[in-house]
Amino acid sequence: MEMLEEILKLREEATASLNLLKTQEDAENFRLQYLSRKGSVAQLFERLKEVPKEEKPAIGKSLNELRNFLEAEFESAGQRIAAAKTADIGKIDLSIPGRKRYIGRKHPLTQTAEEIKRIFTGIGFGIADGPEIEDDYHNFEALNFPPDHPARDMQDTFFVKSDGGKYMLRTHTSGVQIRVMENNKPPVRVIMPGRVYRNEAISARSYCLFHQVEGLYVDKNVSLAELKGTISYFVKEFFNANAKLRFRPSFFPFTEPSAEVDVNCFLCAGKGCRICKYSGWLEIMGCGMVDPNVFKQVKYDENEVSGFAFGMGIDRLAILRYGIDDIRLFFENDLRFLNQF
Ligand code: PHE
Repeated sequence: MEMLEEILKLREEATASLNLLKTQEDAENFRLQYLSRKGSVAQLFERLKEVPKEEKPAIGKSLNELRNFLEAEFESAGQRIAAAKTADIGKIDLSIPGRKRYIGRKHPLTQTAEEIKRIFTGIGFGIADGPEIEDDYHNFEALNFPPDHPARDMQDTFFVKSDGGKYMLRTHTSGVQIRVMENNKPPVRVIMPGRVYRNEAISARSYCLFHQVEGLYVDKNVSLAELKGTISYFVKEFFNANAKLRFRPSFFPFTEPSAEVDVNCFLCAGKGCRICKYSGWLEIMGCGMVDPNVFKQVKYDENEVSGFAFGMGIDRLAILRYGIDDIRLFFENDLRFLNQF
């Protein structure tokens, strides 16, 4: 009886491979091969049609037995696989320390810039920005720099090479003042934060790039007293209510009169130390009343409006605020440094 022999053979073969099942995937392959709708067992049932009538009961019976047997065995193999998996979990060493996930944080310069923005937007200043690759007109000419001014020298400015000196990496954010006034009628009251570049010898005190916040307020009757009041308010908000500051006469081509602002040295409280070069004071910004020549360039009527401008170094302010002794630390991305903020 051919058919009965085949049934026996299939039973042996399937039983042997059941014992080898290890994973869910093995089990699924087994099911497809033997127990699915097109599997070997179903194929044998198909052939029952061709079996002579008198043999049908016996063969049908043993086919049913085969199917029930394999289904039962398959189910217990499935349980065996699941149990083995659970046992593996028991092998995990729960005493191994976990992997620490570090929480990111903002760079100290970003934090400082955000604080400066917070203070100025709180008293009605908007925020504007401009390109880091600037043309001679906005970086120098419109700001009343004479053609032979030393800042225009290769010594201080990174020029974009191929264009014969027309474009440069901006040396200050003051060019954005011009762009804002070109595009807006007075009154304007904005701060303009951004990155600037200077071709300077790199040291603990200066780097080839740093950050500034430019400020500009133009309206009718803006006075020097308002400049002083605004800057004093800022310094007391940024440092503390007892911070002392002074305005020292200075010169910039685009402001007249001009001043530099010093704050009391945080380290020695004004007694004099290495950081403040024993003067007790630290310079934090330049400022002044907008020069009428600048208004002429942007077609503002210098008899109608007046204004003040200032430019402060974000890196400088961060150094003072956190007591950092080397500006290069801001650009090295050393986590031992950055994690402290
Ligand atoms: N642009 C000047 C500098 O970089 C700072 C400044 C800005 C001075 C605005 C006066 C007014 O040194």
